[in-house]
Amino acid sequence: MKTVKVGICGFGTVGSGTFNVLTRNAAEIAARVGADIEIAQIGARRDNPNCSTGDIPVSRDVFAVAENPEIDIVVELMGGTTVARELVMKAIENGKHVVTANKALIAEYGNEIFAAAAERGVSVAFEAAVAGGIPIIKALREGLAGNKVQWLAGIINGTGNFILTEMKEKGRDFADVLAEAQALGYAEADPTFDVEGIDAAHKLVILASLAFGIPLQFDKVFTEGISKIAPEDVNYAEQLGYRIKHLGIARDTGKGIELRVHPTLIPEKRLIANVNGVMNAVLVQSDAVGPTLYYGAGAGSEPTASAVVADIVDVARTLSAEPEHRVPHLAFRLESLSNHPVLPI
Ligand code: HSE
Repeated sequence: MKTVKVGICGFGTVGSGTFNVLTRNAAEIAARVGADIEIAQIGARRDNPNCSTGDIPVSRDVFAVAENPEIDIVVELMGGTTVARELVMKAIENGKHVVTANKALIAEYGNEIFAAAAERGVSVAFEAAVAGGIPIIKALREGLAGNKVQWLAGIINGTGNFILTEMKEKGRDFADVLAEAQALGYAEADPTFDVEGIDAAHKLVILASLAFGIPLQFDKVFTEGISKIAPEDVNYAEQLGYRIKHLGIARDTGKGIELRVHPTLIPEKRLIANVNGVMNAVLVQSDAVGPTLYYGAGAGSEPTASAVVADIVDVARTLSAEPEHRVPHLAFRLESLSNHPVLPI
């Protein structure tokens, strides 16, 4: 059987989860791909005390992975947009396919990254960048490809939803729950991104770009987080029959696309009002199929790794074709639809 070689850059919560899933489910994955997936190298600035890498070579210099001639797929799981951007661009320049979970990188630099990847004829896949383990990118690109999307709305930050749920269910203090979300590996390295809505805005931009065929425009999102929500707000909402949920909303108004993330009041009987803890849910309204709802774990080591591995499988499948028959796995149309500007809010 053919072997596809991957290099994992970043060995924290998601990197170690990816290592564990690829290792544990190697036989099933090989059968699905028609090729063995070998982790040929790990690039990590430090060891992960919770995960042994066994015999796999570890480089402290992540760029060594992008330069390794043996590696087919560079898996970027470091987060951040400085070194990660350089690494991804270097990998593309070297003809590597890229899988990333980095929503900030895709939302802020995706236009440049996809242009470079298209030019070089390599894949850039990012299922894990939005809603953790929910295959929402594949749903928009593939399952809903025949539809015109009218709007989508979702709980797309697991940390924020965990905080709101614990405040409501157990009356816990905001800072205390945030500390727990950090300990559980849900929160961003800078948790301001979670509680101020920035992480949700990154994800919304990616979803909207796929849903409406518009370029990535992070600067156009109206962004408000949950940091100002007090226990009293949660209690008053409950007395009135509502739940407070932080939503990302993208809507085609007919005049353009509206992009916003902010706390909302949702009647307590609605399905989305009952999405609790670290779970995420995305509701998509489209013209042919009508409403579809996607639900699952929005953060955490193996739920996120599930999406990373799905992308590795997708790219590996294209690599098992002969080179002249390979179609790169690119996700974006780079041109804007002229009648779909993003509206100021
Ligand atoms: N910090 C993010 C969240 C991680 O809580 O949703 C998953 O993207």
